[in-house]
Amino acid sequence: YDYDLLVVGSANADLVIGVERRPEAGETVLGSDLAVHPGGKGANQAVAAARLGARTALLARVGDDGHGRLLLDSQRAAGVDTVGVLVGGAPTGVALITVDPSGDNSIVVSPGANGRLTPQDVRTAASLFHASRVVSTQLEIPLETVVEVVRSLAPGSRFVLNPSPPRPLPTEVLTACDPLIVNEHEAKVVLGDAAGVSDVPEDWARLLLAKGPRSVVVTLGGEGALVASAEGVARVPSVKVHAVDTTGAGDAFTAALAWRLGAGASLAEAAAYAARVGAAAVTKEGAQVSFPTAEEVAAL
Ligand code: RIB
Ligand code: NA
Repeated sequence: YDYDLLVVGSANADLVIGVERRPEAGETVLGSDLAVHPGGKGANQAVAAARLGARTALLARVGDDGHGRLLLDSQRAAGVDTVGVLVGGAPTGVALITVDPSGDNSIVVSPGANGRLTPQDVRTAASLFHASRVVSTQLEIPLETVVEVVRSLAPGSRFVLNPSPPRPLPTEVLTACDPLIVNEHEAKVVLGDAAGVSDVPEDWARLLLAKGPRSVVVTLGGEGALVASAEGVARVPSVKVHAVDTTGAGDAFTAALAWRLGAGASLAEAAAYAARVGAAAVTKEGAQVSFPTAEEVAAL
């Protein structure tokens, strides 16, 4: 394989304002100076993996504008192969982000060019799929494009999905996941009525597994993560850090997990490493600009 990881997904300019608290409907609050950072769940995953040392390619679409150039520069600086980054068709995606004093964020995304990444774009990139050991994606691109990703997987390659922002998934996509990676909110949306009455994350992991993925990871924020497969359900501890900005930490977790799985790690080993990568990412402002190198993870 030429690439350890192919990420298919979104690229956004993150427009970030720090706030003491978020405004209610009809209310105005004053915040910090504006920061403009490279983001987007797909672009974030690609940078996270490349910075750790994975040979990484990104299949995405940006606009022919300044935000698009910011995204391309960030990918190239991290060492991501951008041969699959298409330019034009709509403005680059934008995420309007507020970050509160606890480091938590709220995000509104305008998909822009991400919404124009089509199944045909996936088919045109067939050679990237054949060159990649692991393929990962998220849901800031059209669902029909994600379906085409699943259909384009080379024999023997592994598919990883973080269904964010969440929506119900077709069986064809669910059964391809190895693993499906969800937080608690995403788990509930993917499960729908099957979420039932249980508030026990172990139950969600088992219910998700019953929907068809070969493996499932449920991230629990400060409580670590659960990994579930035919071998059972296990808990992976969290790494305690002071949170400054959690934006993109889940993307860094997913990318690190996908890369380690491709390298032959077990699901529990890969998730434990990914938890350290995610923890390092929350200690700094921004998404891509906060992602650690392998040396920084080792030093954590
Ligand atoms: O997961 C974090 C990302 O979500 C941000 O970078 C923002 O662009 C949104 O896509
Ligand atoms: Na961060």
